[in-house]
Amino acid sequence: MIALRNPGNIFVCLYCAWCFRVLCGYNVTRPEADKLILNGKWTLKNSNGTLSLTATVPGCVHSALLQQGMIKDPYFRFNDVAYKWIALENWTYTTTFLVPPSLRAKQEVHLVFEGVDTVASITVNGITVGKTDNMFRRYDLRVSEVLLEGENVLEVRLLSPVLYAAGRSQASAYRVPPDCPPEVQQGECHVNFIRKAQSSFSWDWGPSLPTLGLWKEVRLEAYDVLRLVHLSSVPVYDASLSQWTVEVELCVDAAEALKGNVTLSLPELGTMQEFPAVFSAGHAKSTFVLHLERSKEVKLWWPNGHGGQPSYLLSVAGLLGSLSLRADTQVYFRTVELVQEPITGSPGLSFYFRVNRKPIFLKGSNWIPAHALQDRVTPAVIKNLLQSAVDANMNAVRVWGGGVYEQDVFYSTCDELGVMVWQDFMFACALYPMEPDFIQTVREEVLQQVRRLKSHPSIIVWSGNNENEAALATDWFGIPASQRPRYLRDYVSLYVDNIRAMVLEEDRSRPFLVSSPTNAAESQQEGWVAADPYDPRYGDTHYYSYTQDCWDWRTFPRTRFASEYGFQSWPSFSTLQEASVAEDWSYHSRFSSHRQHHDGGNQQMLQQAALHFHLPNSSDPPRNYRHTLYLTQVTQAQCVKTQTEFYRRSRSEIVEGKGHTMGALYWQLNDIWQAPSWSSIDFSSKWKMLHYFAQGFFAPVVAVGFEDEGALIIYAVSDLSTDLLLHAVVSVYAWSSQDPVCALKSSPALVRGGSASAIFKQPIAGLLAGCGRCSRLSCLVTFQLQDARGPQGPLNYLFLSSPKDALCLQAPNITAVVQQDREGFVVTLRSLAVAPYVWLDVGAILGRFSSNGFLMVTRETVVHFFPWEPTSAADLARALVITTLRDLY
Ligand SMILES: *[C@@H]1O[C@H](CO)[C@@H](O)[C@H](O)[C@H]1NC(C)=O
Ligand SMILES: *[C@@H]1O[C@H](CO)[C@@H](O)[C@H](O)[C@H]1NC(C)=O
Ligand SMILES: *[C@@H]1O[C@H](CO)[C@@H](O)[C@H](O)[C@H]1NC(C)=O
Ligand SMILES: *[C@@H]1O[C@H](CO)[C@@H](O)[C@H](O)[C@H]1NC(C)=O
Ligand SMILES: *[C@@H]1O[C@H](CO)[C@@H](O)[C@H](O)[C@H]1NC(C)=O
Repeated sequence: MIALRNPGNIFVCLYCAWCFRVLCGYNVTRPEADKLILNGKWTLKNSNGTLSLTATVPGCVHSALLQQGMIKDPYFRFNDVAYKWIALENWTYTTTFLVPPSLRAKQEVHLVFEGVDTVASITVNGITVGKTDNMFRRYDLRVSEVLLEGENVLEVRLLSPVLYAAGRSQASAYRVPPDCPPEVQQGECHVNFIRKAQSSFSWDWGPSLPTLGLWKEVRLEAYDVLRLVHLSSVPVYDASLSQWTVEVELCVDAAEALKGNVTLSLPELGTMQEFPAVFSAGHAKSTFVLHLERSKEVKLWWPNGHGGQPSYLLSVAGLLGSLSLRADTQVYFRTVELVQEPITGSPGLSFYFRVNRKPIFLKGSNWIPAHALQDRVTPAVIKNLLQSAVDANMNAVRVWGGGVYEQDVFYSTCDELGVMVWQDFMFACALYPMEPDFIQTVREEVLQQVRRLKSHPSIIVWSGNNENEAALATDWFGIPASQRPRYLRDYVSLYVDNIRAMVLEEDRSRPFLVSSPTNAAESQQEGWVAADPYDPRYGDTHYYSYTQDCWDWRTFPRTRFASEYGFQSWPSFSTLQEASVAEDWSYHSRFSSHRQHHDGGNQQMLQQAALHFHLPNSSDPPRNYRHTLYLTQVTQAQCVKTQTEFYRRSRSEIVEGKGHTMGALYWQLNDIWQAPSWSSIDFSSKWKMLHYFAQGFFAPVVAVGFEDEGALIIYAVSDLSTDLLLHAVVSVYAWSSQDPVCALKSSPALVRGGSASAIFKQPIAGLLAGCGRCSRLSCLVTFQLQDARGPQGPLNYLFLSSPKDALCLQAPNITAVVQQDREGFVVTLRSLAVAPYVWLDVGAILGRFSSNGFLMVTRETVVHFFPWEPTSAADLARALVITTLRDLY
């Protein structure tokens, strides 16, 4: 907070965490500062007072115990289980503070908690001032009457979340499944009974670390006449009038009825309008609609890859009686529609997003909480992950419904980077209770979150829950037929009658889906729970199969929109090292089983790998272990590549009624701890091989090759706005030689912007016969799109047999020279043979390569390394380990 002294009164600037803006104003009537931040060092005690420690707010009990050396890293080895006792205790946070007389003299003094995790009763000077039961809400408690002149004691008594959830479940009039997570997750039960990150009781990629604490800011707020609680600005385009309006909403608390004026201006557009403003006493909301002149050209916000992300400054100035109010905010103009309409040649409905009237293929992945202890998720971590998404050519992430509504910095970074957000409400893989107090707290949560987030252009869709329509439709929880109607009623009541109704009331600027996956409009027709929410002809789908051969694109559903799909892999060795010791470093160690929370996951990875690769069988166990980690990453990268390329090439065609795929969001972008998971970036922010592959398969222009009925078919896929005249250059290489055996060029074809079409087709037998002594086992093909200007999009390739069957795969003996240059470092690689899956690893040195995990057909190639921390060429050269597939034999 900054206070600038002016003659006669004080000009005050406040950072409003709730509305993520700096608010400034002259408080003419009473010039005192009006906030007292209560963050900092508090005292923390367990149930019986045997543990007493200093705890930082914002924070949680686990973090406090860790900071005080009373526990070790909960992520180390088996500590997550060893520390289960923490969440079985009740904990009390206490602080004392002095209230400046000027603040206490105000008409209204409020104690504001931006986030309490989760169930607590709050006392000031021994008097209960409030109770909490929802970590996704802000709590605002009136404390004027209980504050004392001298020292004040603030106490927050937190109840064990595990015991609370169990108690609520026991008290429930009927069963609300699931009861407990699968045993392999070593988690806690009944998480659906507590409004807390659903993954905090364990998930199939994360530990059970049910936190307790004050995870966001705590402060006193005082005012005499009025305070601004919330400000949002949502641009809306009226197509029939060709006119933009900006809906500016002010929520205030007013001690008395107020009348005055509010002026809104967009200086860069030369627009300013004054509105009469009337606020009734108490909590009041006013909406002002700023109309832009029809002739005004506004610069539009675009998703990454489709244009820039310009914004405009919007100033709000109010004069209400003797009070003046000023706030500045950013406005981004864009429209978004979810198009569901009949498709020629298909029985279903389309399902795609149109931004600024342009159909956009969503390319990206799913976001989970970046740490079980949310106070450890810094802006730097969030920005690095989102930048990595953009660096891999993504334009979208789905904030999955089992975690948290993310921090403001998450959404503002998405706004700036052009990353579209599919925002779930925080309900996942469960049915939910319907007690009135539960519904009430959810309603408040929804209202607050929608108001907080709706100004962000990056959010293009709200979605009510993760997989709960599917859970009911396909009966995950063994509900007797006689009881089904009740659960269906509960489902509709929570997501449709409550959440959907509230969201539509608060925000008309983006679509709302009830669930994911869903048949969307068709689900609605069927009473909101479709017979088959996975129907590829409607809405979005989630699809997982670990037993089918992922190299066979025929196994994937030709969906309208793939919002989840994926395969597991292990993190890099350097990441696992942070959480383990030497005896853990084997694939079948107790540690390896402990970290795998998906039943049979470790076995499934090897089974999938064994379909196409030799499994490592070195007699040297550490070598074997590292090679197995590498191979799981190779397998995952290849599987997700095959599936994603299938979706991208399906955007323009309908096959047997299916197709027109317009989204590919794989599961999952990031990790919550060091463990095997579906992520493409591991817990230390290090890119797995999949993330490097994503750079290629999400490239704006890409050649996708596959085999169908014995023919090699190559599609040209383009996300551009302009048409291209492209041909494919196809080269056949023998595994035994770095010189192509032969090369072909397709005739040029017009590839429309935003389309996918076949550009090359030839029987493989004929192709190989034309190349002399080539067979499926001895040769592979590479291909790339070109136009008159040269290559368009990355080089791609297709193996014509499994590498395990390939003949003459040789040890490439790759050597590397590392040098520093202006942008970072250059690694020059020399290879003696064609080398698949060339993997460069620099251990714990953080950063990323320009390319990695690639097929090296040339004798020499240059790769850049962009460090995220200071390092040197010598350190990099020392740390660099190069692995290729041949090393596993
Ligand atoms: C206090 O609680 C802890 C943790 O539940 C327990 O281990 C300890 O024995 C208790 N101490 C007393 C004095 O009750
Ligand atoms: C925590 O508080 C609840 C409710 O008051 C009580 O039932 C429970 O025994 C307490 N737990 C401990 C470990 O003291
Ligand atoms: C609001 O604006 C009108 C017209 O400009 C003016 O007459 C009136 O005094 C203003 N009200 C306040 C409270 O400033
Ligand atoms: C390891 O596997 C390769 C490929 O299957 C095989 O050629 C080799 O003999 C095996 N080595 C050992 C030690 O089993
Ligand atoms: C790589 O080095 C090994 C061992 O020195 C050798 O046997 C092999 O022939 C080399 N590979 C090539 C392609 O030259």
